[in-house]
Amino acid sequence: MMLREAKVWLQRARECHNPLILARGLRFERRRLGLLRFCVGLSSVESRTLLQEIETDHIFLAAVRGNLSRYTRYSPRAVDFMLVDNSGSVFFNEVTLYVIMRALRPETVVETGGTPGKSTAFILRAMQRNGCGHLHTIDLPPAAVRETQLPVHESYHEALPSGASSGWVVPHELKAPHTQLLGPSREHLPRVLQQLQTIDVFLHDSDHSYENMTWEFETAFPALRESGLLLSDDVRANGAFSDFCRARQLASLQVYNLGAARREPC
Ligand SMILES: C[S@@+](CC[C@H](N)C(=O)[O-])C[C@H]1O[C@@H](n2cnc3c(N)ncnc32)[C@H](O)[C@@H]1O
Repeated sequence: MMLREAKVWLQRARECHNPLILARGLRFERRRLGLLRFCVGLSSVESRTLLQEIETDHIFLAAVRGNLSRYTRYSPRAVDFMLVDNSGSVFFNEVTLYVIMRALRPETVVETGGTPGKSTAFILRAMQRNGCGHLHTIDLPPAAVRETQLPVHESYHEALPSGASSGWVVPHELKAPHTQLLGPSREHLPRVLQQLQTIDVFLHDSDHSYENMTWEFETAFPALRESGLLLSDDVRANGAFSDFCRARQLASLQVYNLGAARREPC
């Protein structure tokens, strides 16, 4: 482990107050390296370099964290980048998505579920650094509430704070290669796929019901190019992702609640 990494984990250990949580975080960190090798063929060293690139991207992170603090009772911590407990992590999956996008350099990505917009922000930051790519986000934002600040930051999926709109985490300057489609995926997904014909990556993170997840996978998968990636957040919500991969005999991998499968060449 390099000196910078050791310092980062020391800082996380101080915040954890529990060696078991830290051990769990380290275990998921190792499993993530396996996921990145599976998805985009990166060695551990290459993955670590890109992880460090985003975890030390101070200007970008300050903008994202500023938006989170504005609308929720969030304050930045070193453990934001690791899995902490059963409630997950603030940025663990987002950082993984960033590395995938940096390595894959996709032209076209479609995601469902865009509020608060953490995944959107990290994907767009990767595209900005790549100098290529376009992200289409389909989002049916949650109901608006009167409060300007949500009581806990974990509730940011369930309500739209007063003054905020779909994807409120996304820094304004990243919005150029981005198309936002507001409404249910059932309405927008078939339409956008028909328009794009072929996509490099599909990411599900909208309504996590078994029916909706299965429907989105069935709808998006045929549009994936050969070796394109099917990604899904919240795969632990139900068996939709594993059932879909099993039925199609797709190689897949899951780390915590992020699932990945590749569309193999015919
Ligand atoms: C888990 S959150 C998405 C988190 C987001 N990807 C992020 O990283 O910040 C799920 C969001 O999906 C959106 N949503 C719910 N049902 C949807 C549907 N049927 N179609 C599209 N979006 C939906 C809502 O905005 C909801 O907050």
